[in-house]
Amino acid sequence: MDDLNDIQLDLAQLIRLALAEQTEDVRLFVARLVRKYRNTYPELAEQMDLYLRAKTPRSSPPMRKVMQKAVSTQDLPVDDESRLSLLKVFKDETNREQPLLSLDLEEKLSQLIQERHQVERLASLGLNPTRSAIFVGPPGVGKTLTARWLASQLGVPLYILDLTAVMSSLLGRSGNNLRAALDFAKRTPCVLLLDEIDAIAKRRSDDTDIGELKRLVTVILQEVDEWPATGLLLAATNHAELIDPALWRRFDLVINFKTPEMQAVKQAIKRFLGQDFAMFARWIDILTFVFNGESFSDIERDLQRFRRAIALGTASDADLIEEFVKSRALILERQERIDLAVLLAKQTRLSQHAISDITGVSRDTIRKYTTEQTLTNKQSSKRKPDA
Ligand SMILES: Nc1ncnc2c1ncn2[C@@H]1O[C@H](COP(=O)(O)OP(=O)(O)O)[C@@H](O)[C@H]1O
Ligand SMILES: [Mg+2]
Repeated sequence: MDDLNDIQLDLAQLIRLALAEQTEDVRLFVARLVRKYRNTYPELAEQMDLYLRAKTPRSSPPMRKVMQKAVSTQDLPVDDESRLSLLKVFKDETNREQPLLSLDLEEKLSQLIQERHQVERLASLGLNPTRSAIFVGPPGVGKTLTARWLASQLGVPLYILDLTAVMSSLLGRSGNNLRAALDFAKRTPCVLLLDEIDAIAKRRSDDTDIGELKRLVTVILQEVDEWPATGLLLAATNHAELIDPALWRRFDLVINFKTPEMQAVKQAIKRFLGQDFAMFARWIDILTFVFNGESFSDIERDLQRFRRAIALGTASDADLIEEFVKSRALILERQERIDLAVLLAKQTRLSQHAISDITGVSRDTIRKYTTEQTLTNKQSSKRKPDA
């Protein structure tokens, strides 16, 4: 009788997986059944094994196949009280534009994607693909964006668990909420991003309910350890120093996002200006200079403002640049202001008077540096000793 019950349960589970078109899960499940019934029902086990082997090999990676079936939003876990969804869902096309990434980062991500496309090859060597990764870096450099892009490349939805939201739900329930969200993500082929994971750590220092927070951390620690290889668990943080070292160690991969270098700043300007780039092309070096050290999202925000002004005809490109460069010059060091002045003298038709007004560098100094520049010409102006 017990046996029969067991078989009924297995049958129900099999039907559920099959109807959800979770082909890969069906295969895994059947493989487990073969092992399970080998002794008790050898004929049944053998038959199942035959079906398993006869099945034509998959043409596309498992994650992609399943993704074509939309997950109904009804299934998404919600907070008991507020009925608000605990997860934000993104389903992007695979042709999504790749974020601007440094070369080493691009390589790491490309390997991660490759691993997913060759899961079986890895498995045949007894290896799992990377199951978890943590993105670290300042705000606005593409951590969330990259998670989104990664999911699109793997052909699965991205679920973002906003930890600040989980935490703000009544204490005592946040542990349950978290578990519900994680359980859901484990059952569904997806990338799950625990965004701003430092929210927990931050609260830990100023909250009275230490016990509850400890439980949350424990839940997360366990999950990172046990995350199934069929999914991908990502976490992101702007505050590496707040992350519990025990948590840190558990991620398979650490990916460091940095503020863009000069070359990436230039690329970003081109990308963010879009079709308006032609209009601003002559300012590209100057823009690159003043945006250096900024995050991608700050660069994007300022350029969007430029584009809106151009679209409405409220300002000319020259006006916009002049005003912007002037405001940026205020926060530059003296030597940087001189470099900027020299750049403006070389690349624009602005008078020395105007350049002096914009940069706050005296006309004498500008004259001195620009003539020196013509003399030594090749020498990088950045290297020059302060005047
Ligand atoms: N590496 C990047 N490439 C292209 N755009 C970027 C990049 N990083 C940030 N952005 C722009 O800034 C916005 C915010 O970036 P986001 O990924 O949310 O930053 P983070 O998660 O690191 O704080 C993005 O939606 C995008 O428009
Ligand atoms: Mg983010």
